[in-house]
Amino acid sequence: MLTWPLARPRAVPSPTPPREAFMATRPIILSLTSMAESGLARLREAGELRMASSLEPSVLHREIADADALVIRTAGTIDAALMDCGKKLRVIGRHGVGYDQVDIPAATERGILVVYTPGANTQGVAEHVFAMMIGVSKCFPGQMRALVEGRYNERTKLVGRDIAGKTLGIIGFGRIGKRVGAIAHAGFGMKVLYADVIDIPREAEERAGATRVGLDELLAASDYVTLHVPLDASTRRMIDREALAKIKPGAVLINTCRGPVTDEDAVLEALESKKLFGYAADVFTVEPPPKGHPLIGRADLNIILTPHSAAQSTESLRNMANEVAEDVVGVLQGRPPVNPVNDPAEVAAVRARLGKPPLG
Ligand SMILES: NC(=O)c1ccc[n+]([C@@H]2O[C@H](COP(=O)([O-])OP(=O)(O)OC[C@H]3O[C@@H](n4cnc5c(N)ncnc54)[C@H](O)[C@@H]3O)[C@@H](O)[C@H]2O)c1
Repeated sequence: MLTWPLARPRAVPSPTPPREAFMATRPIILSLTSMAESGLARLREAGELRMASSLEPSVLHREIADADALVIRTAGTIDAALMDCGKKLRVIGRHGVGYDQVDIPAATERGILVVYTPGANTQGVAEHVFAMMIGVSKCFPGQMRALVEGRYNERTKLVGRDIAGKTLGIIGFGRIGKRVGAIAHAGFGMKVLYADVIDIPREAEERAGATRVGLDELLAASDYVTLHVPLDASTRRMIDREALAKIKPGAVLINTCRGPVTDEDAVLEALESKKLFGYAADVFTVEPPPKGHPLIGRADLNIILTPHSAAQSTESLRNMANEVAEDVVGVLQGRPPVNPVNDPAEVAAVRARLGKPPLG
């Protein structure tokens, strides 16, 4: 009598390898970054976690060759050439919010899903904005330097200001912009203005007591201007010489989004001419900023700079690690992404057209 395996009809070869074939082996996850241990543990549990040995393109091109997933932070350029070296690549996970270093159209064209961690560091960045806003307002750079250099009595020459009751202009009223606005309104009684390119729900405006205005009006009326836009063609060098000419004299500019959104040379000029009372930034046009960067070390210009560390709080780091790991593992195991950057339906259609196995 024939037994079942022998009686089974020969399988018709399929042009698309079934997902099960890929699931049989442990997926390889290449990470360009370390992260909170809970995230690493989740990745290790679901696959073979490999740490990239360098961010050099030639090294990455080699190390991505058999990776199913790629995990990145702010460093590293994830372009079409790199993706072409990762023939098995199914998902790229961004530990963080801005994904401007990833060529998203190139990922979509190759059927690679990109996921990120929106909201994971909203509170951390918002608090960083207030640390900067208050620090510049109280002339911390000059006061701290004078103290270190033994010029104690200089304290009476550096006169700061309170932020209560002042006008805050928020450019980009998304997750972080809204949180900054709500804290400014409830905590400091600031008048909040914002500029954005999308419709904002009434409740979000009400939570921040915020009024929508045009960019020029915002620049002219705000004592503090804080930037919370993504880096793209519409925001690159948004705060250039022309914009700074429109800014209210004595304003403070704060950039925690992306360096290229401001023209750093124009900012330096505005500080030297005293058009700006102060400047604070967590981001630079080029990161890390080159040695001798003209804005670094200029306490005399009332500048606070941090090295892209606004999301470096225990809570933000834990949230980003857990969320990126969970989403990458989910996609590798065939679940729909929680926080996709590119359209999962479009990615699925491309994969089918290219004869790649479905994601889920
Ligand atoms: N320093 C850091 O460590 C750090 C951490 C998190 C986020 N970020 C940066 O902050 C940015 C904002 O983060 P988020 O979570 O609030 O993002 P988000 O997507 O929730 O908000 C961005 C807002 O900017 C608006 N916008 C886009 N283009 C605009 C334009 N031309 N003019 C005005 N508004 C425009 C969008 O409509 C949106 O409302 C991120 O894209 C990222 O680059 C930096």
